[in-house]
Amino acid sequence: MLNPFDIIIFGGGGDLALRKLLPAMYRAYQEGNLPQGTRILPSVRSAEQRDEYIETAHTALKEHLGQGEYNNKDWQAFANYLVPVLINVTEADEHWDELKTILSEHDEDKSRVFYLSLPPAVYGTCCEILSTKGLITDTSRVVVEKPIGYCGESAEQINGKIAQYFNEEQVFRIDHYLGKETVQNLMALRFSNSVFENLWDAKTIDNIQISISETVGLETRAGFYDKAGALRDMIQNHLLQLLCLVAMESPHKLNANSIRTEKLKVLEALRPLVAEQVDDNIVRGQYVPGDLGGKIVPGYLEELADGPSNTETFVVIRAHIDNWRWAGVPFYLRTGKRMKKRCAEIVVEYKPVSHNVYDDSVGPIQPNRLVIRLQPEESIQLTLMSKRLDNLEMQLEPVTLNIELSESYSSGFHSDAYKRLMLDAAANNPALFIHRDEVRQAWQWIDPIIERWQEKGAPALYRAGTWGPVDADELLAETNHRWFNTGEG
Ligand code: BG6
Repeated sequence: MLNPFDIIIFGGGGDLALRKLLPAMYRAYQEGNLPQGTRILPSVRSAEQRDEYIETAHTALKEHLGQGEYNNKDWQAFANYLVPVLINVTEADEHWDELKTILSEHDEDKSRVFYLSLPPAVYGTCCEILSTKGLITDTSRVVVEKPIGYCGESAEQINGKIAQYFNEEQVFRIDHYLGKETVQNLMALRFSNSVFENLWDAKTIDNIQISISETVGLETRAGFYDKAGALRDMIQNHLLQLLCLVAMESPHKLNANSIRTEKLKVLEALRPLVAEQVDDNIVRGQYVPGDLGGKIVPGYLEELADGPSNTETFVVIRAHIDNWRWAGVPFYLRTGKRMKKRCAEIVVEYKPVSHNVYDDSVGPIQPNRLVIRLQPEESIQLTLMSKRLDNLEMQLEPVTLNIELSESYSSGFHSDAYKRLMLDAAANNPALFIHRDEVRQAWQWIDPIIERWQEKGAPALYRAGTWGPVDADELLAETNHRWFNTGEG
């Protein structure tokens, strides 16, 4: 069992804290994973907000917890863990001394987790004040959110600044996708089943599609999103991390260093996309009004309500990993907002059989397909060709082995990426966090794409409620591939 810890959430009144971090801690409490003596210290910027914080947290939990998760008894007990504090993260004033006093009330060895739920631009200042005010102990850790920076250079600056005050081992960079139970299951599938691992390379696999589609639009994040766009918001981190987990070699042990080393090798082997290669291998899109689930939703520009914008809300990339295992296998990365369905999945399309022994009358032999669905429901499907058993003729058809993981494990455990990652940070387990080298390498691949887009072209438009611009289908058609869209075959 974890030892008690103090987690200081800078930006405690912000959207992330109220929507994700507090519910995560509440769930940890409900499951018996929040040790007695732990304190959650959300920071807010005014005395008034501090005095009202318990009520703010209460309202947020009722709003953001799933059905049946909230109950008053657990809330009352959970509220005892909350110690709201008043801090202005950019001013080294007396409030930091008060925080120091509160933290020092407890044992020196108690872990301190400083969670910077803040804009990356203030990470450096916040870390500096933590240091000058003497708040960083040997057992302190700092948790930072993606995206780190807006390009390789700004990421280096931010990471460099943090490194002045924390050792790399104390820095926990979150990519919440890595905390999803199903994403960890990817590694379990690959590295504990010889059936997959032996059929996991360019000899047997034709192409791999990694797709995260969302139905939400801008939500309340126009200011952030319009500067970031889907490439920085999703591809630089979530999609590239999934790509790493799908494509990496087996780590020799499941520890942080071995996993990161293997992920880094994948990022290093990604074939760079520069200048016209960007135009040839990438489609970017932006949604216009459309019908989503029977309701007409506004387009990106209407939601933004702030002048014209070329920000992409959709991206498809045809990527290649230049190594022995993956030579010649296209990896299609796709993400978009306001798409037809919310779904995250990895689709592995195998090569056709090398020689067809049947004649045309048996029907076409379709290549095998493995679909690992991460959300909304978690499942694994393997499609195989099989003889129809209901007649004497030889007729083949695809059948699907379907494992509904969410049904297999319905014990009341709430899989919550933030819960896992916050507890991992408290337990000093960095295996599911991103190393500085990975951030650097990922930006190295992304930067030339951004540069090209700044020079040339504009996003293709797609109607909300669709699978994106037609150009995305055409990109795959160039290599005789097509998207596998969940539920649509
Ligand atoms: C976040 C992005 O990192 O991930 C959001 O900033 C996106 O734009 C979200 O909506 C998607 O996460 P999930 O877990 O809902 O798939």
